[in-house]
Amino acid sequence: MIRRTKKQCPELVLPDDKEYLECVKDILRNESFLSMQNFIQHGTTTCLEHCLNVSYRSYLFCKKHNLNYRAAARAGLLHDLFLYDWHFHAKLTGNCFHGLTHPKCALENARREFKLNDIEANSILRHMFPLTPHPPRYREGNVIMWYDKVCGIMEILRRPAYKQSAILAQPI
Ligand SMILES: [Fe+2]
Ligand SMILES: [Fe+2]
Repeated sequence: MIRRTKKQCPELVLPDDKEYLECVKDILRNESFLSMQNFIQHGTTTCLEHCLNVSYRSYLFCKKHNLNYRAAARAGLLHDLFLYDWHFHAKLTGNCFHGLTHPKCALENARREFKLNDIEANSILRHMFPLTPHPPRYREGNVIMWYDKVCGIMEILRRPAYKQSAILAQPI
């Protein structure tokens, strides 16, 4: 399991955006959510950083286009709440289909911790389309699905704008 030490992992910072933080403040204090900082998602980006990238970009897009930005912000933060290191998951569990199974796992974990509305639940469950067969039911889910892919690619390429410090300014 890849675990970052404090030295390797600088203090997490959040968007300097009061309205965004108001939408997600309960999630940001949740221990299961915060434990995502222990797991690498892409390159040097942790699951938590990846989810923040997807959440904040989806929030901004949905706000600009009069969609449910609160649901997008919350589902973006929770869409990868599977809580394990997927790099070693197949070896440890025999489950070689993380790409297909983790949305359901994330949804179950999210439901254990938070009350989700239909948009949030469906957006989490279907964010891996087209790898999984069903597209998101709501427009907010489509926004998350696309930003998940864009952010994933940018994180793998280690683009500076997709490192936390480039877009986020307020310490937790
Ligand atoms: Fe995912
Ligand atoms: Fe993701």
